[in-house]
Amino acid sequence: MRKPIMAGNWKLNKNHLETLAFIDEITPVLSGVGDVDIVICPPFTSLNVATARTKGTNIKIGAQDLFWEKSGAYTGEISGEMLKVLGCDYVIIGHSERRQYFGETNQTINKKIFAAFASGLIPIVCVGETWQERSAGQVEQVLSAQIREGLQGLNAEYHGKIVIAYEPVWAIGTGQTATPAQANEAHVLLRKLLGEIFAETAQDIRIQYGGSVKPENVRELMAQSDIDGALIGGAALKAASFEKLVKFKG
Ligand code: 13P
Repeated sequence: MRKPIMAGNWKLNKNHLETLAFIDEITPVLSGVGDVDIVICPPFTSLNVATARTKGTNIKIGAQDLFWEKSGAYTGEISGEMLKVLGCDYVIIGHSERRQYFGETNQTINKKIFAAFASGLIPIVCVGETWQERSAGQVEQVLSAQIREGLQGLNAEYHGKIVIAYEPVWAIGTGQTATPAQANEAHVLLRKLLGEIFAETAQDIRIQYGGSVKPENVRELMAQSDIDGALIGGAALKAASFEKLVKFKG
């Protein structure tokens, strides 16, 4: 059985004071949840207070990116080890916004996945097609390249630990969610692609859906056979809404 994983990707939102206020609001209401992994991914400047304040709770902290080198002359970058020492457990890699605005490719993403595992972090690797690609019938081709190139060479001991987030670019921040059936179809395809490289562990890999997930649609999405969690943007920024998403079972 794959344990559901609900993660909030805060993107460029909340300073460290707002982060503390959110955590103080959410910690008591989520303290009884044991059957779902809960992750919050604030900006870098909030990670220090976030890991300190959630220590000993069931809320795990993730970063939104990392750099693949451990140290050196790379102005502005953050290493996996820095995140791990801070108390982070997860790191988002290859979000479509980073692919789109910051030139990330399947090759840079591959290096970052290795760096995450080398530092003891669990990578949440984002994949997904644009509307143009979907319209041109290229979903399989795009996802296949993202999985094959992104995960190339990954050591067998890490296969089952990786988390994949299927985020169709056209559904992010648009209010236009993929229908549960559309999303599940892509998840089934992703699991098939994962099975081609990770034959033994593909069934254990958790695949989150992301793109306009909200309390109103989470239940139906989570009821699908191959949807194992959600990576949530806008609806994860308010404690009341994030609580409902984590408690999707009702
Ligand atoms: P929204 O939930 O705001 O559409 O964002 C999804 C996302 O990009 C999560 O990583």
